[in-house]
Amino acid sequence: MTTQAEHTTGTSHAGLQAWVDEVAALTTPDSIHWVDGSDGEWDALTTLLVESGTFTRLNPDKKPNSFHAASDPSDVARVEDRTFICSEDERDAGFTNNWKSPADMKSIMTDLYQGCMTGRTMYVIPFVMGHIEADVPMFGVEITDSAYVVVSMKIMARIGANVLAAIEANPDASVVKGLHSVGFPLTEGVSDVAWPCSDTKYIAHFPETREIWSYGSGYGGNALLGKKCYALRIASAMARDDGWMAEHMLILKLVSPTGSKHYIAGAFPSACGKTNLAMIDPTLEGWTAEMVGDDIAWMRFGPDGRLYAVNPEFGLFGVAPGTGEHTNPNAMRTVEKGNSIFTNVALTDDGDVWWEDMTPEKPAHLTDWKGNDWTPESGVPSSHPNSRFCTPAKQCPMMADEYDEPNGVPIDAILFGGRRKTTVPLVYESRDWAHGVFIGATLSSETTAAATGAVGVVRRDPMAMLPFIGYNAGDYVNHWLEIGKQADESKLPKIYQVNWFRRDDEDGSFLWPGFGDNARVLKWIVERLDGSAEAVETPVGLVPTPGSIDTTGLDMSEEQVAKALAVNVEEWREKELPLIEEWFAKFGDTLPTQLADELATLKARLESA
Ligand code: GTP
Ligand code: MN
Ligand code: MN
Repeated sequence: MTTQAEHTTGTSHAGLQAWVDEVAALTTPDSIHWVDGSDGEWDALTTLLVESGTFTRLNPDKKPNSFHAASDPSDVARVEDRTFICSEDERDAGFTNNWKSPADMKSIMTDLYQGCMTGRTMYVIPFVMGHIEADVPMFGVEITDSAYVVVSMKIMARIGANVLAAIEANPDASVVKGLHSVGFPLTEGVSDVAWPCSDTKYIAHFPETREIWSYGSGYGGNALLGKKCYALRIASAMARDDGWMAEHMLILKLVSPTGSKHYIAGAFPSACGKTNLAMIDPTLEGWTAEMVGDDIAWMRFGPDGRLYAVNPEFGLFGVAPGTGEHTNPNAMRTVEKGNSIFTNVALTDDGDVWWEDMTPEKPAHLTDWKGNDWTPESGVPSSHPNSRFCTPAKQCPMMADEYDEPNGVPIDAILFGGRRKTTVPLVYESRDWAHGVFIGATLSSETTAAATGAVGVVRRDPMAMLPFIGYNAGDYVNHWLEIGKQADESKLPKIYQVNWFRRDDEDGSFLWPGFGDNARVLKWIVERLDGSAEAVETPVGLVPTPGSIDTTGLDMSEEQVAKALAVNVEEWREKELPLIEEWFAKFGDTLPTQLADELATLKARLESA
């Protein structure tokens, strides 16, 4: 079967060309555009998006070369209940994932893809996650019928003609194939809308064949296939096979007043503070921070036996609400440089963007994310709680030079964090790697608007990877234990749990100021690594003595600090322990014995405390 589609170019890579032809025959686009990643192409596509009503160009005096988009109100977040891991064997998807066999899923989705690009352009985006100079470059190609996806991918990943040339030069290199359609064909009589999408959504992953099929959503996490789909779900399955790690982690470089450097990785569930910590502006005199990554870390052992992390992304896709001068000035500096896309935030009357808590004072008038007039009296937020800025990582003024290091940075400490109003102290240290893996495997957080579904419900989120583990969760936590066994324990990062979100049970306020003041917790961690800070043994782990957290210049009494650090043994024994037992029961026979032993140890420690 041949396609009528008009090609802009093609590829000498026979396998890739055959796949593109096959997809074109199935989806019947009007034309095929091979994305070269050039600035001219960006200009043409953003202009097209303005003309079609998807984009509003922002005032260039406020945000040069930047655009506002409002999605369909039903298409605002990742859709976890529509996300599938389609391994051959159901056991390999495990209890945390939805599963369908590859054959069944491909049959359902092939029907959906039939003619789905009618009236549209099919874009072919060659991309690489991580560095093109890496020993094993992690190539991908995304086919999409969304120009919004193309321009967003140009910000979020290294894309274009030079990547295609590298793929052609390495015909045996593995290339992850991603197929995406918004699922809104322009058949006879159907006119386009500003945000095409479908009520039927599937985000399907085929870990064995390293393929991704996405249908029906234009939202970032569902449609920019290099990010969550490839760099976390597919990559985690690759990492299991090849002895490395693909994790939902920020990477931060912290420099002390004496000039000592530490690299810290942190896994927090979506909308729980990774981007904010990655961009921290420390409130402690003499301490500086630089960002290496804000969402994804790929970690491999280096020749010296230490774990090295790279950030495979090229841009930042950050939660907008809550980002402001007082919380995250570095993010404000990054987006002010322009070249950015803002989705589901509000528009100001002078052609700029605004979202909740960007400034302490609310503007008198806005156009909200749904296109309605908005005033501070409206009684609804102007922006969707999961509205996002999409901006080039290199624009961040505190981006570390090490970001460009293809082999990454050696990690000294790993933080696990979540949103817990109660129980979990501000910070504590694991006793060893296996105990740290237990902390990660039992990580919990109140749900947020980053995924569709109820908000504020405590759920377990192993290593902040619950929605992103591309295989069996029991095998995944076991892989963490195996990584520990491959290494000399003294060279492994030390593992910590943090909780910026604990509340005062009397007035409900945050017990810890958070943001720039989180540097005080990082300082304690660095001093622990150096062997100079004090900690007390508790049944859950090693907690700072209240005096060992530097509160210089902070309006906080030692009693308040003690409240934030408290381990309430009874609360842990009566409330937390049963929840952890319930969680581990779900693993069935996939729970590693070592983690069952850690649970028994915690129980014994709580009972004898
Ligand atoms: P994803 O990009 O979805 O993976 O989320 P993320 O982990 O990067 O979350 P982000 O840093 O964007 O933070 C989400 C929300 O948490 C924002 O509204 C922040 O203002 C808020 N937040 C971040 N750090 C802190 C903190 O230290 N204290 C408090 N109280 N809120 C915080
Ligand atoms: Mn994330
Ligand atoms: Mn983020």
